[in-house]
Amino acid sequence: MAKMFDLIIINAVVVTASDISACCIGVKNGKIRALVDSFDDEELSGAEVIDAEGAYVMPGGIDAHVHLCQDLKTGPHGLGGECADNFETGSLSAIAGGTTTIITFATQTRAEEDRSLLKVVETYNSRAEETGSYADYGFHIIIVRNDQDILENELPVLVKDWGISSCKLFLTYETQRLTDSQLLDVMFEARKNAITTMIHAENGDMIEWLTGKLEEKGMVAPYYHALSRPPIVEGEATTRAIALAQLIQNPILFVHVGSVLGAANVRRAQTMGLPVYAETCPQYFHLTWNDLKRFHSPTCFENSKMICSPPPPPSTSDHEELFVGLSNGTFTIYSSDHCPFRYDHPHGKPSGVLEHPESMEGETISEGHDLKNLLERKQGAFRFIPNGIPGVETRLPLLYTGALATGRISPQRFVELSSTNPAKLYGLYPKKGALMPGSDADFVIWHPEKSFTPFHLHNSMLHHNVDYTPYEGMEFVNWPRYTILRGKVMWANGKVVGTVRDGQYLKRGPSQLSHKSPRTDKDPYRVANWLYE
Ligand SMILES: *[C@@H]1O[C@H](CO)[C@@H](O)[C@H](O)[C@H]1NC(C)=O
Repeated sequence: MAKMFDLIIINAVVVTASDISACCIGVKNGKIRALVDSFDDEELSGAEVIDAEGAYVMPGGIDAHVHLCQDLKTGPHGLGGECADNFETGSLSAIAGGTTTIITFATQTRAEEDRSLLKVVETYNSRAEETGSYADYGFHIIIVRNDQDILENELPVLVKDWGISSCKLFLTYETQRLTDSQLLDVMFEARKNAITTMIHAENGDMIEWLTGKLEEKGMVAPYYHALSRPPIVEGEATTRAIALAQLIQNPILFVHVGSVLGAANVRRAQTMGLPVYAETCPQYFHLTWNDLKRFHSPTCFENSKMICSPPPPPSTSDHEELFVGLSNGTFTIYSSDHCPFRYDHPHGKPSGVLEHPESMEGETISEGHDLKNLLERKQGAFRFIPNGIPGVETRLPLLYTGALATGRISPQRFVELSSTNPAKLYGLYPKKGALMPGSDADFVIWHPEKSFTPFHLHNSMLHHNVDYTPYEGMEFVNWPRYTILRGKVMWANGKVVGTVRDGQYLKRGPSQLSHKSPRTDKDPYRVANWLYE
């Protein structure tokens, strides 16, 4: 007799974005087929059985903000480092941390040969196909110019042929930022194609001006990166982007919101009924300016490991405020913004020393091997340090340790932030982000809390291709015990058991979160609604 199920999970405490219930799950052909109290012998026969031992079983994590294989020329002058992870190492790190789906970025640049968005996506997809991926993956398209012909001709094709239903725009970085009218151009075309606009909201002029002033005073050490981006930088940019989006009734998602001010602006817009969504990331709940200051001295480059944009918030009281936003619905999704640069590598964080003329005065460096010695004697200059930290693997465990285990959020909210909402926002629901018959059998199974001994994290335990973690030494109270992708066990009891060819490309549909602003979209005093007549 043919077996009824390929995989059965017993003794599960199944958590979705709305419910918790003790039950068993039956999987057939990579999809969930049954959620029941128990299975009989006939149903069990021939199936692989996993005993969850009463631990949480959740939909596999969806990390909607991951940079892999990317040309990360993100420095203010278009400098920047080399992305340390490709699709193989990045997706391996994802599944070892309970994440089964990653959405990465394909990036247009200002170079003439990168004008075509379709060509950019083909290039990035060939990078993924070259190595394969352990996790299912898709792309957001980063748009850095407002070429009307490209937007009109190619956005519909991106949606139809590639299933790319989200674009990301920048308000900062000299090589990527758009002016307000360019933003309107792109958002207008995105809206016509039901493409969700993601916005990196930092005021580039404020940053550039403050950076110049800091440099005049010789304040260039890694710590001063934070002072060049105080919370008002995000505060201004979120306010402005909300106004622009409201003007043309375009739904927006702010990526990596890291300040209380930014969160409050998002909240105000949501209260007005505007379709404004926000992403936040672990670094805004676990790091502060103090982490950037830890080894602060005239000769110390070590703190460059913590540099990301926006920077972590000033103090732990900000964490508490942001945790409120995590539980009260202000934040829609929780992603990693995994943006990996190595420390002991000439094209990683050390660009901050090597590109800084003053640091390199009288120095010669041959083929990288004196790098460590150099970094111990120099502080470099933050302007030249690639912005970004790794975190795809630690994302879910940090949310567990910091928010779930402490009672700040419920298990259901955990699932909503880390899986269900990203699936809805980016057009993957209910294939992903749900535990329903017919959904992909993607799961993260945690350890039963009573039998798990908290441990201190060391970078050597992680699977990324980065030589440090910002969370070195931190205590974790749980870790994914199993990660299962479409019914296939990928990660089990600390070991990788899947293969790099298991991940598949995901064509996505339009966002399933509201596009409408019911309170304002008929009001000609507030919005340019004649645009669409
Ligand atoms: C919800 O969280 C946001 C962001 O932290 C905050 O601005 C807002 O005041 C909170 N609302 C309530 C009702 O607590």
